Amino acid sequence: MRTQVGIVGAGPAGLVLAQILRVQGVESVVLEAHSRDYVEHRIRAGVLEQPTADLLAEVGAGERLHREGIVHRGVELQFAGERHRIALSELAGGAGIVIYGQTEVVKDLIQLRLDSGAPLLFEAEDVGLRGIETDRPVIAFTHDGRRQELECDLVAGCDGFHGVCRPSIPGGVLRESSREYPFGWLGILADVAPSNDELVYAHSERGFALLSLRSPTLSRLYLQCAPGEDIGLWPDERIWEELQRRLGVPGWTLHEGPVLEKGVTGMRSFVVEPMHHGRLFLAGDAAHIVPPTGAKGLNLAIADAAVLAEAITTWYETGSRALLDGYSTVCLRRVWRAEHFSWWMTSMLHLTPGGDPFDERLQLSQLRYVTASRAAATTLAENYVGLAGARA
Ligand code: FAD
Ligand code: PHB
Repeated sequence: MRTQVGIVGAGPAGLVLAQILRVQGVESVVLEAHSRDYVEHRIRAGVLEQPTADLLAEVGAGERLHREGIVHRGVELQFAGERHRIALSELAGGAGIVIYGQTEVVKDLIQLRLDSGAPLLFEAEDVGLRGIETDRPVIAFTHDGRRQELECDLVAGCDGFHGVCRPSIPGGVLRESSREYPFGWLGILADVAPSNDELVYAHSERGFALLSLRSPTLSRLYLQCAPGEDIGLWPDERIWEELQRRLGVPGWTLHEGPVLEKGVTGMRSFVVEPMHHGRLFLAGDAAHIVPPTGAKGLNLAIADAAVLAEAITTWYETGSRALLDGYSTVCLRRVWRAEHFSWWMTSMLHLTPGGDPFDERLQLSQLRYVTASRAAATTLAENYVGLAGARA
């Protein structure tokens, strides 16, 4: 088999890249390790920056997003038992965020791909790369029990943090920067209407909690927990009780409902530089991870895919490698801004286990400042809705 661009991974980065390339007339093959059902039901992010939503619409994946996405113009920060609204749109030049699940983004993109007849292979096993430092990189994989080889001009490593692409780059080439956090998130999807009109990020003496949503009838909620927390220790009643304690404020009710899904997510910051080597280009979680507190992971993955797609099409059209060579530099500016913002939000809102009271006092002071000063609130708002590439 031969193609122009071999794409490893059918998450948001791989699927958006494949879609833009197809619209621009560049051939690709997408290889995904898991089944379609698994990929479409893996619950993750839910907040799209406006430019992410606009990009999805531009590439033809905006129809259902436009119909079902819920635009929010503010978020709330809760601390010391009170809520404070950050007026995102008012502070950040009109931009807002769109609530639309990553599962739905992925379903829309998969449907477009399959309708177009372009190749997307699920359950591609034992994917391995060869010759990324040559002009003819090869992806070897097993599909339907048959070992196959895909020869490409370029390979896009869109296979997430645990994928095979990043480890295929020889040792010593990439510089890694990372931070582990001493906590995780326990997330639930609940069959109950959201109890608040906007997201609530809550600092509490019992740890962080987040109220979010997926639709007018589905709530998404998170609790700070231990990094490797055993979900078995958290029957639904215990989760609701803890959410009530951390999110409760006088005169407001957190409505409970059947828990449809629950899981624990680790928190880490991670970046590799550069984001390419030879003919292999990394995009999304394969190259960088942010803790979810800034709601940036999905947005970064899609932004990388858009930058890479433009660089690839320009290379085919003009023969110039300039944009491909500049891919990493362009992406890393945005990535590092998001890394800082996500680390900052995480540090401001979570309780450090065994942390001293000094840290907590600093957090409360910072939260008071962010909600009382227009300048500080604007900083949060600009970063939350997404800084334009140039300013990042
Ligand atoms: P992924 O979505 O990870 O997609 C990579 C794809 O590659 C997957 O489909 C995977 O199956 C496939 N793959 C992996 N290895 C191979 C292989 N060897 N061969 C072929 N295919 C392979 N962000 C937020 O903003 N908010 C959140 O609440 C949030 N929650 C998260 C919860 C979890 C458990 C995780 C892991 C991430 C979460 N994120 C969240 C981050 C966000 O979902 C990611 O940043 C986003 O999915 C990145 O997209 P991606 O396409 O780069 O990678
Ligand atoms: C979500 O709805 O899943 C969500 C929202 C905001 C975040 C992280 C996750 O910061």
